[in-house]
Parts: sequence; C-alpha cells; structure tokens
Amino acid sequence: MCGIAGYSGPKNADQVLILALERLKYRGYDSAGLAILHQGEIHLRRAAGKIKALSDKLESFPVAGHCGIAHTRWATHGAPTEANCHPHVGGPDVPTVAVVHNGIIENHDALRRELQALGDVFSSETDTEVIPKLIARAYTGDPEAAVRAVLPRLEGSFAFAVIFADQPGRILAARQGSPLLIGRGKKEYLLASDVPALLPHATEVTYLNDGELVDFTAETCVITTFAGTPVEPKFTRIEITADAVEMGDFDSFMAKEIAEQPVVLSRLLESRLAGDRLVEPDLGLDLKAVNHIVFLACGTSWHAALLGKRFLEQLARVHVEVDISSEYRYRNPVAGGDTLVVAISQSGETADTLASVRMAKAKFLPVVGLVNVVTSTIAREASGVMPLFAGPEIGVASTKAYTAQVLALYLFALQVAKAKGLLSREEELKAIVAARALPDQVRRTLAAAEGPVQEAADLFSAAEATVFLGRLGEHPTALEGALKLKEIAYVHAIGYPAGEFKHGPIALVTQHLPVVCICPQDAMYEKMLSNLQEVKARSGRVIAVGDGNDRHLQDLSDVVFPVETPLDPLLQPILTILPLQRYAYHVAMRRDCNVDQPRNLAKSVTVE
Ligand code: M6R
Repeated sequence: MCGIAGYSGPKNADQVLILALERLKYRGYDSAGLAILHQGEIHLRRAAGKIKALSDKLESFPVAGHCGIAHTRWATHGAPTEANCHPHVGGPDVPTVAVVHNGIIENHDALRRELQALGDVFSSETDTEVIPKLIARAYTGDPEAAVRAVLPRLEGSFAFAVIFADQPGRILAARQGSPLLIGRGKKEYLLASDVPALLPHATEVTYLNDGELVDFTAETCVITTFAGTPVEPKFTRIEITADAVEMGDFDSFMAKEIAEQPVVLSRLLESRLAGDRLVEPDLGLDLKAVNHIVFLACGTSWHAALLGKRFLEQLARVHVEVDISSEYRYRNPVAGGDTLVVAISQSGETADTLASVRMAKAKFLPVVGLVNVVTSTIAREASGVMPLFAGPEIGVASTKAYTAQVLALYLFALQVAKAKGLLSREEELKAIVAARALPDQVRRTLAAAEGPVQEAADLFSAAEATVFLGRLGEHPTALEGALKLKEIAYVHAIGYPAGEFKHGPIALVTQHLPVVCICPQDAMYEKMLSNLQEVKARSGRVIAVGDGNDRHLQDLSDVVFPVETPLDPLLQPILTILPLQRYAYHVAMRRDCNVDQPRNLAKSVTVE
C-alpha cells in the first residue's frame, strides 16, 4: 500500500508530484507529503487527510524546486497524523536526507533502538523513519554508497526513494518487494509506484526488479543491483493514455468503471476469439495434461475464482481448488506434477497472492497469472499470463475487473475443455455466440436495472445490515454484492449460500433487514423462490435479482432488479452482479460515502 513518486526535470516538482499523488491515491489516502530540493535545502510539506489538504498547504506555503519526492499514505505503523506523514528525514541538525517509503520494515524496532542509543531523535511512530536516519549516518558524500550500506540492514518489503540536500536534481530509489517504475520524458525522469502517476510527463517506462537500485537526474538514469552489478534499463512505450485515468463526465471512477463494462468485455472477447473460434492463450502449457487446478486470489478476485471452479468443473471436468492467498501461503498444500496454479489478481501486486505465486514456483508448479496490469510483478513472475484488457481500474471497489475475470475464466474453461476433447465444435460455436451476446446484455441490464436500484437504495440506504443469498453460480455473486456494500457504503453485509440460510443466519431476519435474493431463471430458481418465501414469512424485506417480467418475483419482493438471461446459464453471474454494483454505489452516495476512497482501504494490498 502507499504510493510513492519522484521527479527530476525542468518543471515545478511540486505540481508534477501533486498530480502523481492524485493518480496514486487509490493506494492510500489518509495523509500525504512531499520534499523538494531547492538551493541546497530539503523543503518539506506534509498534511494529514486527503491530497487536497497537501495542495492547500502548498498554496499557503509554496515551495520552489525542480526535483523532489512524494508520498500518499495508507497507515500501517502509526496513526494518519502529520507527524507520521512521509517524507521522513535524517541528518544531524537540519535534514540532509529525506525518504518516502512503501512497504514495511519488519526490523524497525531493533533499528530504532540502535539509532536512539546513538543519539537519534525520532519524530514519528513509523517503521520508515529508520531509513533516512540510517542513510544520513552512512552518508559521507557518496549517495549510492550510503544507500548500498543501508540496504542489507533492512528486513521486509520496500520501495523507497531518497534525496540528499547537497545532491541537486538527484534521486535514488530501491526496490525489494514493492513496485517501483521509472518513467522517461523530455529531459526529465520520474519514479512512481504505478504507471498512471507517470502521465502525462513520461512517454516511456521501465520496471525495477526486486534487488535493484536506480540513481537518476533529469538527464541520466543508472540502474544497478544492490550488489552493484549494472542493469541495462529497458524502456518501453507507455500504452495507456492520460484519458484512461481521468474520470471524464462521471462523478466517480467507480461509476465510470461500472459503465465501461460492455466495452471491457468486448475487448476481452476480441483478444480471445478469432471469428467463431477460441484462440488458445499462449501459456506455454499443454492444457490437455492439466488435471488439477488451484486458483489463488484475494477479495473480489477470490469471488471470480469461485466461478472459475464452477466453469472448469462443468465444462472441462477438471478437479479445482480455490484458495485465499493469505491462507494458502501458510499451509503446506499437497500438489502433484499435473497441477496448474492460476493466480487471479487485478493489480498483479497483491502481497499474499504474489507470495503464493512464489511459493508455487518454488514447488516447480506452473503458474499462470490472470491479471489486469500486465506489467505487474505477478505478470512478470508467472510462467504464463492471461490479460484482462480491462484498462486501469482506479476505484477501490473492483467492478469491471471482476466481470472481466469471470468472462476470462469462462473462456479459459472452454479452452481446457476443448484441449481435452470435451467440447464439440457445435458446443464451441454456441458458447461463442453466448459470450458475444454478453456486452449488449450488460449494457441493457445496467440501463433497465437503474430505476429499481435507485428505488431500493431510497428504501434501504438507512439499513445497517443486508443479507445476500444465492446458490451455485450466484453464491459468488452474493459474496461479491455483500463485499461491494460493505466496502463502499459501510453497511454490514453477508453473502450466503441460500441453502445454508436456515442453518443459523435466518435468525437475523426482521422487518428491518433487507435480504437480496438472487433468483435468475436457472436450475436453482424454485429453490431460491422457497428461500425468498421463507424471508417473506418472517417479515423480511426482499430485493430480488432476476427476470423483470417474473410475476412471482414481483409479488414476493419489495423491489426486483431486472437482469437479462444469457444464452449460456453459466454466464448469468456476469449479469446478476451489475445491479448489485450499482446498488452499493447508490447506497454509498445516500450515506455520503466517498465511493472511490472508502475509509481504511487501499486499492492494492501490497503489504501482508
Ligand atoms: O488486485 P487484486 O485483484 O489482487 O486485489 C484483491 C483484493 O484486494 C480486491 O479485490 C479487493 O477486495 C477490492 N477492494 C474489492 O472491491
């Protein structure tokens, strides 16, 4: 978590860095700060709260200079106060060194005690502050030597950037476990935790690997390993445009990303279909030989993985396990030679999923990354990559990446089935027709559900809890609908397999509890209707998700969210989740919540 940025070039560094922080705020937004080099001094500006608080401070206390570093924070060690804001500094009297850091220094306690014994006075509760203090002590005029001397002392994961008061225009940065990118523009270099923060200044980017150190100015960029071996930087063109990371006419990134789903799904289909045929992704694998798949993921990606299991079981008759990455990495899982590990991650940077990938690789298992960010660490470390092509997802609540993951998993399951001779040509054709019909169905469903969704949000936005029920493919939808409501509207919500409801949670039902029953016209329809009746019989309030013309649903529910029926029932969850995304959005709006920056969260969970 946390976002870091750096700039050296002809422009005003504070302006470049504020824009970069705006683009990184999805990584944390509880406080922000920057340090600018000017006339042999380090000028610090820091503010608790949103980046706007930092901009306001800069208006009142402007700072000049063309080189600096900046940080947007998601607190781990120490509350989000100004004292804990980055940059942190080191130096005997006035600051000689300033550092911004993303990650966790696990041995910070021991280092802090050691430095305090030497006379250093700490002004924050952060783990980070030991870094500038150590570097300042090691510095005798050679910045690289000082950073290199400190690196072996740091345990944990980090990406940090450092400036020195007497080194104008120069920034050093190191990576061990947290992402770090270098952007190149016209007579300027930048650094950031993610590509959008390099825009619009940089046109090219290179990615630091773990164990690498960069030393740059406006005109030079030298990369070496921590041990000092030179690394040839490979700059590639930045493909995303500044527009893709702007909100446009929408009031939030979440609203924009929900609306983008038809286009996102079409783009994904284009990448995986050639006319009426599936295009096999180049994974360097013999899919025919895969008999066991383990999906690893967190949060929303884990919900997509649950659907992936269903698709693979149904279509390819492959044995599938789904594991939450933070659990898998601490187990001692049994996995044989015919096991394929699929890591699902929008960002490709989630710490637990990345650790699981590394663990699987250490067991010599093939690992495929299903990722949106193709330049991410998981994409680079996996043996094969299935990209989502969803475009930058900036809202903290994952929406378009989720539906893209689900469709990608459906296509993958078809591919495995085909490789195993379990998909006839006729079935392939039918599946492709069904998949190709989806983007329009998504567009129509979003439009048709909007009125009822707003009506339900008016009725239930004050409810302090909501239950979501679904069966089989709609159980992950229930989990995902509940997660959306929790994370952006702060409503306690649970998703439950509807058949389990009687085994305890039904005790929650009162006339104050909205229960969302996901009842499309599928094989579980009758059973779901029974669940719905049981809620009604206990005076519960019902939101049904299903066929808009279904009289039963209308009679039994307070509100029906109408969804279309796909040509392949397996694809239904891509449609049923849509009104639930919009429901969470509207409830959050009515509760005055910031949907793009919900409290306590960050988009990429890059720490354990
Ligand atoms: O980038 P990833 O897909 O690995 O992220 C996993 C979760 O952190 C993420 O899905 C999270 O649960 C979202 N906030 C859900 O909206």
